[in-house]
Amino acid sequence: MIQPRSRTVVVLAAGEGKRMKSDLPKVLHPLLGRTLVGHVLTAASAAAADRTLVVVGHRAEQVTAHLSEIAPAAVPVLQAEQHGTGHAVRLAMAAAPEASGTVVVLNGDVPLLRPETVASLIDAHESAGAAATVLTAEVADPTGLGRIIRDSTGGLERIVEERDATAEQRRIRQINAGIYAFDAAGLRDALGKLSTDNDQGEEYLTDAVGLLAAAGAPVGVHVAVDVTETLGCNDRVELSRLRRLLADRINEGWMRAGVSILDPATTWIDVTVAVDRDAVIDQNTQLRGTTTVGAGAAVGPDVTLVDTTVGAGATVLRSHAVQARVGAGASVGPYAYLRPDADLAERAKVGTFVEVKKSQIGPGAKVPHLSYVGDATIGARANIGAATIFVNYDGVRKSHTTVGESAFVGCDSSLVAPVEIGAGAYVGAGSVVTNDVPPGALAVTRAAQRIVDGWVRSRRPGTASADAAARAGEAAGGEAAHHHDAGGTVPGDTATD
Ligand code: UD1
Ligand code: MG
Repeated sequence: MIQPRSRTVVVLAAGEGKRMKSDLPKVLHPLLGRTLVGHVLTAASAAAADRTLVVVGHRAEQVTAHLSEIAPAAVPVLQAEQHGTGHAVRLAMAAAPEASGTVVVLNGDVPLLRPETVASLIDAHESAGAAATVLTAEVADPTGLGRIIRDSTGGLERIVEERDATAEQRRIRQINAGIYAFDAAGLRDALGKLSTDNDQGEEYLTDAVGLLAAAGAPVGVHVAVDVTETLGCNDRVELSRLRRLLADRINEGWMRAGVSILDPATTWIDVTVAVDRDAVIDQNTQLRGTTTVGAGAAVGPDVTLVDTTVGAGATVLRSHAVQARVGAGASVGPYAYLRPDADLAERAKVGTFVEVKKSQIGPGAKVPHLSYVGDATIGARANIGAATIFVNYDGVRKSHTTVGESAFVGCDSSLVAPVEIGAGAYVGAGSVVTNDVPPGALAVTRAAQRIVDGWVRSRRPGTASADAAARAGEAAGGEAAHHHDAGGTVPGDTATD
């Protein structure tokens, strides 16, 4: 029986990333849904390794805490002082004396690398029985990168860093991507022989490749088909270029999968998002985190969705949502704000200038305009009139409001929680509801209307209002007031639709 070869992954993430000029360690900078090191670990998962070691150093606690969230099986190895990439790998190998077979080393700042490329690098390395295989690419601008130096037969001789290179070597455009496969025994041996005789006075991992080649061990290169995969991130200009390239890759992937993206240049979709076919993503839209968009849904323009689920056929227009659920065929916006645990059932509507937090909005229920809905359960087909406020907070506690199915809440009402509006009940416009309303009942709490005839003529004489009243043939008379009783009227015009 053939024993599968043992594999170890080593990710280098100890550097500060000085050129980022950041309080955040470079490898923790976010890039469309993952940190830089998160992307690298995702690509490295293709190695199906027995162990994954991540060398941490600069702000090690912060990086280690992040690793325990995204890759709990990965083992952090502390490199307290950063004496170079070779030093980092030497410490990792010392921390894993049992590691044999293939060791895949990845720089923590090469986030566009694909898992398929890691798999093909390993395949090329193992099938050739090589001591070291270096992922390379031919790039238009190799500035700042290590160059691949060939011997007279065209084989890989060594890698020279730009700062140590001659003018002639700097013209070489084949670069070291910082992704390697090594034979563990050969790697250990070469790491023990690294010098610090270079411009930075560091132990270079790249020298391990040169030492193996000099000793006559089989050393090769594996050329990346897509050059963008090998791009490193050393400053924020490079980070923004990587973001653009990754966004293009993600958008193209979804378009090929049957999603319409009307303006890819202004559409930013995290790698962690899923979109079903025939969804239409309009311009200026960001889909982030664990967001999913169902088949045929229309999202955008001007929408940001974070960790939000949008059902099939739903519409979300010029809105912001965080940890919300939008049911199939539901409609959101324009200008809605859905906060955590806003839960819209199928065909529900949350319209313009409406904020919803921790509330269930039942099938076909509508909150069309200018409302706040917090800590509420709204039944199927209920209609919440414009400017209704769910008064959920008494300054100390949050309380719940329940609105029964097919209930009808008139405009500009306040529902003071805890309170329950029964199924099919009505609330007259402008009411402040503090007591439960039984099913099918009408609640009206506003003051009765008072009419003072001729008030404008006597109190605002000579104004445009008085003139208009005169032209309208206002009733003569004094200031006698009379009341119109609100009770018993049917508030058929108290809500908007
Ligand atoms: C390195 C390579 C270069 C290659 C380039 C590709 C070396 C000497 N050079 O250069 O040939 O073209 O990557 O992007 O390897 N790190 C540690 N500990 C250290 C130093 C670095 O963990 O002591 C980590 C960094 O956090 C980073 C990675 O190693 O994730 C690469 O370090 P960086 O300083 O970016 O190397 P480059 O100069 O880019
Ligand atoms: Mg780098």
